[in-house]
Amino acid sequence: MSINMDVITDISVALGKILYYFLESLLYKIIPKTKKNVAGEIVLITGAGSGLGRQLAIHFARLGAILVLWDINQEGNTETCSLAKENGGEKVFPYTCDCSNRQEVYRVADQVRKEVGDVTILINNAGIATGKFFLDIPDHMVEKSFLVNAISHFWTCKAFLPAMIKANHGHLVCISSIAGVCGINGLSDYSASKFAAFGFAESLFFELTMVKKTEVKTTIVCPHFINTGMFEGCTSKYPFLLPILEQEYVAKKIVNAILEEQVYLMMPKFLYIILILKHDLPTSASQSAEITGVSHYTQPQEICFLNTKFNRYCVLVFSVFSPFFKGAK
Ligand SMILES: NC(=O)c1ccc[n+]([C@@H]2O[C@H](COP(=O)([O-])OP(=O)(O)OC[C@H]3O[C@@H](n4cnc5c(N)ncnc54)[C@H](O)[C@@H]3O)[C@@H](O)[C@H]2O)c1
Repeated sequence: MSINMDVITDISVALGKILYYFLESLLYKIIPKTKKNVAGEIVLITGAGSGLGRQLAIHFARLGAILVLWDINQEGNTETCSLAKENGGEKVFPYTCDCSNRQEVYRVADQVRKEVGDVTILINNAGIATGKFFLDIPDHMVEKSFLVNAISHFWTCKAFLPAMIKANHGHLVCISSIAGVCGINGLSDYSASKFAAFGFAESLFFELTMVKKTEVKTTIVCPHFINTGMFEGCTSKYPFLLPILEQEYVAKKIVNAILEEQVYLMMPKFLYIILILKHDLPTSASQSAEITGVSHYTQPQEICFLNTKFNRYCVLVFSVFSPFFKGAK
């Protein structure tokens, strides 16, 4: 009997919280959340030497953050350092670091702690994509994808999270991907590693909540394809639903999500619907993967919807929710 009462109490509390947070999120749609001030925060960006990492560095430089830039590519990283300085960054520290190498991460992390201080915002952004069909991926590239896209996050978090926990202040940012929530053909190693990164970040988020370190925030980012060159040749048949995103736009959205301490960021917003459909439709797992048709990496190809029940369902849902998508990229 007492077990039943416990279950009823737990369920009631959970439902109450769900309702509360649902109403709270609705309220934030009307009244924008106050943004946190990151001036003086020590922001470490991995993979800062190009693409999204570079754009993030420029944004945080403008906001007065102290920047620690990591990349395996020294030349690209130095260029980002100059751009960050041109954009108002007064304290910018570039380091050459291969995130996939545990010893190197710990060594450079020690150097950062001595030379700059404790990192308070950690952005795990470095990534690689092989872009081959499963049987064509060399074994060492499968391992490399996991090391760079997922396992490196374990090492960077091990290095910088203790200080955040001690101060109960900090922010962990995981750059996953649409491929981290939907399997994608031609990207099995990339997708699996991005699922791993997502799972790690989400688990850590729950762990931090359980130990009441609620001022160590988490943001998990899942963008659709971005025009950084990582997925060169990718085009979208229905850009109004799934556009190839501009890197400046994605960086702006990520910075905004960090400032508003948003836990999940999917881009474009249509991805939220795809996720609901993926679990709703019996055969949707493979179909949702083909929406993003990423064989483009080896053979340029359009991102397209299949002419299936899924396609019709998407169009129906999109029509119903179309006001919600106005201006949503
Ligand atoms: N481009 C897209 O379409 C897309 C979509 C969704 C998510 N993402 C993710 O966004 C992140 C940024 O990608 P991007 O599009 O800017 O690509 P990019 O290739 O321009 O940037 C990746 C950076 O990571 C660096 N890097 C690679 N291996 C490294 C290592 N071992 N150690 C340190 N640095 C390393 C590279 O030198 C490069 O500067 C990646 O995690 C990527 O998976 C990209």
